[in-house]
Amino acid sequence: MQPAQRFFVGVTGASGQLYAERLLQALADAGQGIDLCVTDGGAKVLRHELGVEAGPPHSRLADALPGWLGAERVRAVRLFAPDALEAPAASGTALVRAVILVPCSMGTLARVAAGFSSNLVERAADVALKEGRALVLVPRETPLSQIHLENMLRLARMGAIVLPATPGFYHHPREVVDLVDHVVGKILDRLGVAHGRGARWTGELEPPAEPGTEPRARGATT
Ligand SMILES: Cc1cc2nc3c(=O)[nH]c(=O)nc-3n(C[C@H](O)[C@H](O)[C@H](O)COP(=O)(O)O)c2cc1C
Repeated sequence: MQPAQRFFVGVTGASGQLYAERLLQALADAGQGIDLCVTDGGAKVLRHELGVEAGPPHSRLADALPGWLGAERVRAVRLFAPDALEAPAASGTALVRAVILVPCSMGTLARVAAGFSSNLVERAADVALKEGRALVLVPRETPLSQIHLENMLRLARMGAIVLPATPGFYHHPREVVDLVDHVVGKILDRLGVAHGRGARWTGELEPPAEPGTEPRARGATT
């Protein structure tokens, strides 16, 4: 029997590290195996935005992981340094269910669009493209230059899913995490992973609930 295919999550140096945190937690909670790689830029922004120490050296992330994602989720995760080009995801012969770059910097996006693999995250994305496997890129950048837009179009034409971190507001979010989970739910939908993140539109237009009362249209955010 084939071993269950794992997801490869590449965390790069864009703002929006909370999207990575919530996605990793949701995948682990759904019983999925995760190969995780944080770029040097990602480690810098992860420390700045969430206070998580991811190196260098990248071995420091192993110590930080239980505090970041929750101790019970660590078993789902295999960590790889950005220069670990011997990792399974660097070869097309290793079966990877999907590659997700979250958040995805414009630098990484440009290098992937150009087929330029300077680290494991970019190589995993390159392999997903050549093998016709799912590749989801979650950029946070705004505004977008012509170069950014052209790179995104190029990737979309190659079959990649460009899923910007632009949450909706029609589910009446009350907390930052409600906004983040709206995007995370969309990523999980594209990955085919069942989840209770974000809120699904029911077709009912309603004003938001009064402050201090239970929200009406808010989805599960656990
Ligand atoms: C606090 C902080 C926030 C950043 N946010 C972004 C961003 O949202 N988008 C982006 O493309 N780059 C952003 N950068 C710059 C990237 O980290 C930088 O281009 C880095 O070289 C990306 O490397 P990587 O693509 O290998 O992760 C940010 C940098 C810092 C320090």
